[in-house]
Amino acid sequence: MARTIIEPFRIKMTEPLPLTTRPQRERYLADAKFNVFKLRASQITIDLLTDSGTGAMSAAQWAAMMTGDETYAGSESFYQLEAVVRDLTGMKHVIPTHQGRASEHILFTVALKPGDVVLANAHFDTTRANVEYLGGVAQDLVIAEAGDPRNEHPFKGNIDLNRLEAELRSRGDKVAMVLMTITNNRGGGQPVSLANLKAAHELAHRFGKLFFLDAARFAENCWLIKQREPGQSSRSAREIAEEIFGLADGFTMSCKKDGLVNIGGLLCLNDDALADKARSLLILTEGFPTYGGLAGRDLAALAQGLTEVLDEGYLEYRLASVRYFFNLLDRLGVPLMRPAGGHAVYIDAAQFAPQIPRWEYPGVSLVNELYLEGGVRAVEVGTLMFGRPGALHDEPAALDLVRMTFPRRTYTQSHVDYLGEVVGSVFERRHRLAGLNITRQSPILRAFTAELEPLKAETPAQGGR
Ligand code: F0G
Repeated sequence: MARTIIEPFRIKMTEPLPLTTRPQRERYLADAKFNVFKLRASQITIDLLTDSGTGAMSAAQWAAMMTGDETYAGSESFYQLEAVVRDLTGMKHVIPTHQGRASEHILFTVALKPGDVVLANAHFDTTRANVEYLGGVAQDLVIAEAGDPRNEHPFKGNIDLNRLEAELRSRGDKVAMVLMTITNNRGGGQPVSLANLKAAHELAHRFGKLFFLDAARFAENCWLIKQREPGQSSRSAREIAEEIFGLADGFTMSCKKDGLVNIGGLLCLNDDALADKARSLLILTEGFPTYGGLAGRDLAALAQGLTEVLDEGYLEYRLASVRYFFNLLDRLGVPLMRPAGGHAVYIDAAQFAPQIPRWEYPGVSLVNELYLEGGVRAVEVGTLMFGRPGALHDEPAALDLVRMTFPRRTYTQSHVDYLGEVVGSVFERRHRLAGLNITRQSPILRAFTAELEPLKAETPAQGGR
């Protein structure tokens, strides 16, 4: 048997990649005020900003789009989607939304009162923002190992069960739900083990609390369970997924990830009263409950995507391609968030360029260098995104990471080899990287719009690390 895990598809349609010169990129980046969020697609060769809605659909999904039923109320495409989701998850109420954060907003509006607490392994940013916007408290209880990029724990998305139990005991009356994000995007695309999900579910129910999932990357989590968790290797990803969804009282899902579509979300619930309230609110903000802000053709593509994502050939390739890039960088000695996760490779920028003070955004410096070097766009997940402005300078985020996120079924192995060369060249001159200053920022979600200016590099440190 050949050992190379190949892309399990061939390419029927191509899209040209913009190729640019270094002087052009220098100009584009300066025009973008040194914030890659402000670049245009035509200025980027390989875009690893996000895996959200950026993947390629299959021929079967494009074919399904043509069958999309655009009926306002009672679209057949909705009933097809509902059947697929029910079959996989067992959920009684299947409510489409336009994307994940719309599901979150509706769920927390109907399930939280001001002052209520959501206990999670880790809230994704929009999830936390929606909880807080509605007057709730979002508390993260991920295991301590998750905070150490070098720790090789196979399930760094796990919730700390002792802390979860302690919180349920001490704040029981305030807790509205336990929420498990699979995989943990904030912490490096790290999975949650099946044992941890079962134990968290058991605790939530023992204390009479709802048990919810943020299932954006459920299929990748299931594949990592199959690969890493003792006793799970002989089960199919689908069986594992069915078991996990079977534990939940409901879930939100951004279908732009493991739904394999460019737009779409789901809010699924078992409770009739909650579902009634959710549907009423949905009519106010998203549209009729049988389309939830999507076109009928989007529902049809999603129904097909949710079946394809559990194909084991696909999942094996997907996780192997992330691991392949992880290993390339690891061999070069690039400091990484370990072990390889689901949808992205995270570089530890604070270790990569330790000469840059954390409040001068080492992650942004690295992101900008990657763009200048090879037209590659990554994203800072660090002090620009999560730090808090302080009196003298920012209070740094817990970690300064750079996420190189892989759109699904989009780039090939030669693209990944190219990425390895780009990161490798920047790594060779890492001791010359310099920090940045913010020249303009907004009080909320500043990372998306901030304007920056590069600081001059100090005399190069001797020999780098
Ligand atoms: N939950 C998780 C775990 C996510 O990663 C995201 C989005 C959402 C919820 C919100 O879903 O974008 O459809 O409204 N993550 C994207 C990212 C934006 O780049 O990681 P959405």
